[in-house]
Amino acid sequence: MSVTGRSERLKSRGEWPGPVEFSAGWARAHVRPWNEDLPAAALRLERGGARFLNLCAQAVSAWTKDVFSPATLPGSGRVWREAGFEEWGQLLLFEHLLTDLKVPEALVTENDLLDVIVLNRIDRDSFPPAWRLGPIGLAESVSATSRSAIHTVAADGEVAGFAVTGVSLGVGYLQRLAVDPKYRGRGLGRSLVRASLTWARRRRAISVLVNTQPDNDQAAALYRGEGFTDVAAGLQIWRFNPATRN
Ligand SMILES: CC(C)(COP(=O)(O)OP(=O)(O)OC[C@H]1O[C@@H](n2cnc3c(N)ncnc32)[C@H](O)[C@@H]1OP(=O)(O)O)[C@@H](O)C(=O)NCCC(=O)NCCS
Repeated sequence: MSVTGRSERLKSRGEWPGPVEFSAGWARAHVRPWNEDLPAAALRLERGGARFLNLCAQAVSAWTKDVFSPATLPGSGRVWREAGFEEWGQLLLFEHLLTDLKVPEALVTENDLLDVIVLNRIDRDSFPPAWRLGPIGLAESVSATSRSAIHTVAADGEVAGFAVTGVSLGVGYLQRLAVDPKYRGRGLGRSLVRASLTWARRRRAISVLVNTQPDNDQAAALYRGEGFTDVAAGLQIWRFNPATRN
């Protein structure tokens, strides 16, 4: 597929509903299905401007209903707005400065390989449809940073929970955390958070960031209890309005 823009030609590599890479000269963006439940796409801009982003979003709109941005920091949403996206939702953002780290209470294992089937089962059971990652999103959460780790905890002989942690340019990201509902309230989530923070500090991260939905009281209580502080501004998610033409 290729779409002719005013000055650039949009090229795509990959087959929807799999991951697709867009390029136009130097500009690059990646899109994947939001998850297995919603007719929506997650579009990520690697480099490029609003005009390129708008062309990508228009192309994706032909394949699926909604096109969402990643969570953006306040002040970095301008390119999305200029590309025809509107603010859709907010996320809570927490930061841990990696001091006073505690030892996990439960046994936490660092895994070399991503068992996407197992992680996806726990992710599906843990999040409401709108917030599930799906197999492609889970794989992307592992590959999004230059270094990453998958930590798991076990109960009754099966994987009971996991954390995906990444470090890029000295900043750690707790990308995903979930505990199977049947094993909650036993300290497994807390142990995964502790292992994740320790792993990030060993990779020389100066802090770890994590975000969650505004109504996720359990996660917020867990993060605050483990020494994270609220970053007041939070994060924004943007949704493409197909009526917008740049
Ligand atoms: C958040 C989550 C990972 C916690 O896992 P867990 O194993 O049940 O948590 P723990 O037993 O280790 O509890 C640690 C702390 O979390 C908080 N917490 C856990 N369950 C809670 C609940 N039902 N209500 C309020 N706070 C809760 C508490 O602060 C608790 O500390 P406490 O025991 O001293 O009160 C789990 O509820 C989950 O998977 N939720 C869905 C997915 C999710 O929200 N992921 C994280 C956000 S992206």
